[in-house]
Amino acid sequence: MLKKSLAFLFMFILMIALAACGGDEETTDDTGTTDDQTEDTSDDGASEGEGAESSGDGGTVEIFSWWTGAGEEDGLLALIDLFEEQHPDITVENAAVAGGAGTNAKAVLATRMQGNDPPSTFQVHGGAELNESWVAADKMEPLNDFYEENDLMDKFPEELIDMVSKDGDIYSVPVNIHRGNVIFYNMEVFEEHGIEVPTTLEEFVDVLGQLDEAGVTPLAMGDKEAWTATQIFENLLLATLGPDDYRALWEGEVGFDDDRVRQAAEYFETILGYVNEDHASRNWQDASQLVGEGEAAMTNMGDWAKGYFSNDLDLETNVDFGYFPFPGTTEDFMVITDTFGLPKGVENPETVKEFLAVLGSVEGQDAFNPLKGSIPARVDADPSKYDEYGTDTMEDFQNSNLAPSLAHGSAASEGYLTKANQEVNIFVTQQDVDQFIEKLQQIAGDL
Ligand code: GAL
Repeated sequence: MLKKSLAFLFMFILMIALAACGGDEETTDDTGTTDDQTEDTSDDGASEGEGAESSGDGGTVEIFSWWTGAGEEDGLLALIDLFEEQHPDITVENAAVAGGAGTNAKAVLATRMQGNDPPSTFQVHGGAELNESWVAADKMEPLNDFYEENDLMDKFPEELIDMVSKDGDIYSVPVNIHRGNVIFYNMEVFEEHGIEVPTTLEEFVDVLGQLDEAGVTPLAMGDKEAWTATQIFENLLLATLGPDDYRALWEGEVGFDDDRVRQAAEYFETILGYVNEDHASRNWQDASQLVGEGEAAMTNMGDWAKGYFSNDLDLETNVDFGYFPFPGTTEDFMVITDTFGLPKGVENPETVKEFLAVLGSVEGQDAFNPLKGSIPARVDADPSKYDEYGTDTMEDFQNSNLAPSLAHGSAASEGYLTKANQEVNIFVTQQDVDQFIEKLQQIAGDL
């Protein structure tokens, strides 16, 4: 209960703060969605001439996400194309706000929800980000009937349905499963320097040292947006704690005074000694590019980076770039699931459900995921549509211990994540383990 009220309190403060700096309600449509951030495909479909004046005209569906630009938008655009093909009478507004992991989009969304101006549907991670924010604030419609009508109940892994459910009701439809504990590497660089894929943290540190001695940047990081560093830290926690205690940490059952948390922080400090110097001025794409171009050997990134390597850099899977689980987490799968639901108060819920039905269909998932780098959320999708990265990952998902990502909204509330990102960011700069642990203990109350 305490957890919940704190989450509410945080949401409330966040919304007030955003409303204060985001202008009045009339301007919320435009908040943060400048021309180069927002894309509108409403005129490239078959619905020409119908216009897309406002949501709620029965013929428009506004899709809100942060999938814009390199490595992000190709899957969404393919899904929209498919939807427009199937529903030429419905206009799509693609309201995407740039910024990895929703860095900017989440704030814009909060302002809009606060102003009772929800998009028709929006990207939200399964787990706490959906359940402790929007569902807890009574902002989402339950989709149980929708699941029954579309025969979806047994089409997703149970763990995923759990992540999008609260108190027995289902609140969104997962479009994908991304994996967060992946290291992508440049195969030529590994070969040239005789590097073996590390499986433990000790081996990882060894490899970092070997590459460093060889004059190669061992690990590319781009923490211009702090979540990329948080992602490394959560993978280290998963490695040192193991999947059960990693979960227990976010449940408040394992404390941040645990030795294994300190161990993760110490590894983090060591690893930070091997990243590119300009890490703070790069985003995840810029960091991945260093690996793609052979200027760095490895990067830890969720497998949206696979989409970036394939689609944007034209690199070939298992020829130009390889991949392995984050050392120490070989048996584990850090789950990130992007989902879409139906906010309360949209004027055309039936139209929105048409979109959710396409997004939740085999065809929809197989249009989206091969381009996005993720695997389908549905269990009955067509593996032949995916390359070796996809099929390997589908197999790993079946055989791994699943763990919820903190950096991507599943493990803990948005309020906690904001604070954790801040502390990680300070740690990256100061690298003071004692202070970091102390801060993590202090903010644990917000979990
Ligand atoms: C994650 C999201 C992914 C990808 C990534 C980088 O939070 O789940 O789909 O977009 O951010 O922006």
